[in-house]
Amino acid sequence: MFYETAQNKHGLKHDPYKALAVPRPIGWISSVSKAGVCNLAPYSFFNAISEKPHYVVFGSTGRKDSLTYIEETGDFVCNLATWDLREHMNTSSAMVPRGVDEFPLAGLTAVKSNLVQAPRVKQALAAFECKHYQTIHLPPATPEATSNAYMVIGRVVGVYIDDQFVKDGIVDTGAMKPIARLGYMDYATVTPEAMFSMRRPDVDAEGHIITVKRG
Ligand SMILES: Cc1cc2nc3c(=O)[nH]c(=O)nc-3n(C[C@H](O)[C@H](O)[C@H](O)COP(=O)(O)O)c2cc1C
Repeated sequence: MFYETAQNKHGLKHDPYKALAVPRPIGWISSVSKAGVCNLAPYSFFNAISEKPHYVVFGSTGRKDSLTYIEETGDFVCNLATWDLREHMNTSSAMVPRGVDEFPLAGLTAVKSNLVQAPRVKQALAAFECKHYQTIHLPPATPEATSNAYMVIGRVVGVYIDDQFVKDGIVDTGAMKPIARLGYMDYATVTPEAMFSMRRPDVDAEGHIITVKRG
């Protein structure tokens, strides 16, 4: 099958789009308003997009509280969503009126960040402290249509890692059991059993880039 997204006539029970961009990491975004109200919500239109410098991006469908607060105070934190915190993460996605702090609602503790005003989730095993760089209002698919898609870009200025998960100079990602979003109501978990390694053809065992001779 094939369909054009401008009409989006896929003929299926549900839009398959998000079931095909998988697994999506969850940016569990904490922010604070100008008035000092904390906010927490998961965003699976999320990813790291660069490492030198470090940038992340998330997509907001509409100008939600996270985006509003981030623009008010200029920063945010992306907390790592993991298996043990899955219910807390889900609870924090509840559509509550603006001004309601999702931290107590989800049974979580907000703790001070190192470099940004937005708090991080104390229970989260890792977190990126970010400064807001830019919001881009993405244009609609056709001139007649409208768009409520906002791309929020942040520069990661600090990285928190729970020391228990650093072993022999390596982050034990599998032990943290991060969760990721699939389509529909589905999620995936990253576990040691699900992980595999592969070396790039132009990188040696130490991770140095080597020149591949051709011809
Ligand atoms: C796992 C998960 C992923 C989500 N991803 C997004 C997303 O990428 N973009 C979005 O606009 N909403 C997303 N949502 C919905 C928001 O979390 C929800 O609208 C929330 O109330 C927004 O909170 P805020 O207004 O405090 O920012 C997601 C919800 C869940 C449970």
